[in-house]
Amino acid sequence: MRFIKIFSLAVLINLCLVAAAQTPVIQVLESGKKVSIRGLSVVNDQVIWASGSKGSVARSTDGGKNFTWTTVPGYEKNDFRDIEAFDDNTALIMAITEPAAILKTTDGGLTWRKVFEDTTKGAFWDAMNFSYDKSNKLAGALVGDPIKGQIFYALTFDAGETWERPHAEAHKNIPAVAEGEAFFASSGTNVILFDKEDFHPTLYAVSGGKVSALWDMFTWTKYPLPIMQGAQSTGANSLAINSDYSRGVVVGGDFTKDTIGSNNCVLLEFSNKINMSTPQTPPHGYRSCVIYLDKNNLLTCGTSGVDISKDGGKNWELISRESYHVCQKAKKGKAVFLAGSNGRIAKLVW
Ligand SMILES: *[C@@H]1O[C@H](CO)[C@@H](O)[C@H](O)[C@H]1NC(C)=O
Ligand SMILES: *[C@@H]1O[C@H](CO)[C@@H](O)[C@H](O)[C@H]1NC(C)=O
Ligand SMILES: *[C@@H]1O[C@H](CO)[C@@H](O)[C@H](O)[C@H]1NC(C)=O
Repeated sequence: MRFIKIFSLAVLINLCLVAAAQTPVIQVLESGKKVSIRGLSVVNDQVIWASGSKGSVARSTDGGKNFTWTTVPGYEKNDFRDIEAFDDNTALIMAITEPAAILKTTDGGLTWRKVFEDTTKGAFWDAMNFSYDKSNKLAGALVGDPIKGQIFYALTFDAGETWERPHAEAHKNIPAVAEGEAFFASSGTNVILFDKEDFHPTLYAVSGGKVSALWDMFTWTKYPLPIMQGAQSTGANSLAINSDYSRGVVVGGDFTKDTIGSNNCVLLEFSNKINMSTPQTPPHGYRSCVIYLDKNNLLTCGTSGVDISKDGGKNWELISRESYHVCQKAKKGKAVFLAGSNGRIAKLVW
């Protein structure tokens, strides 16, 4: 009897260990600063950059053990809602408004230089994304809220040194931006630029508000998204595309009712057209960011918690009720980090 008890205890412990190994755990690395972080860029398993309110930027070069925080001089009141880092020295940060601006550092964040700015009244920028083009140059795209019914976007072909605003008039039949349709600046992940081999460069962005859609901003095609919409606080917040560009996932919802766990996720399949479907078990609330961890595993986070999917987005499992705005995986590496309000930065152990 006693043997059986000990034996079954051992079995139980083993089962628990197996279960623990399978469920990712979120380990908080930093918290307590009165800074809301929405920009996160992970270069590799060691180099992590984050940006947020009150002109704040944080950087770690030791895998998150030690973060150095700085306030960018002259931008103490600005909110840097997106950051794109290329290595431990080079990064771009995006101030959303007044002024809407992009600053660049090449010395690890010691000094920043303005590379692009828009002082137009009402200018509000949402996100940027970069991709190596065929000649291995870093091309990038920036998306902002529509001004006078025109989507704002800008492109760079030299790693953010100079930016150009394409003349939208050059394109015929640009779909109309709906009244109350705009882009969210919630995690810097609602725009993706990619240059698939044997393929045209592609720029996708997902809009939200009264209308939520997937925009192909090179062919100028607008695909309605089957996701919550109709109010200013609703719609798509984030788009992720897998490594062979065959599938994608969109997340969002209503940030003012962040526990609604339906109509908050769309699965995309790209062929000569775009197929859209919705998950069997959606994420458990409003989500502002989604990323692929690998082919089938995905992570999504928002103010009401964090979910993972192990089946390409069909079913989502809540792993934490803690609030996070953004998650990112190392571009070269396996490490995954999350960040949110109160200067919180965490690591996903998976
Ligand atoms: C953390 O980084 C700062 C700035 O680089 C450095 O001065 C400090 O010694 C580091 N602390 C630890 C514990 O590594
Ligand atoms: C651009 O976005 C994609 C998809 O979110 C991401 O995988 C990639 O790392 C981003 N590029 C850069 C340079 O941050
Ligand atoms: C898209 O949907 C159509 C019709 O449901 C289906 O025949 C086709 O195989 C789908 N394409 C992909 C890439 O899933």
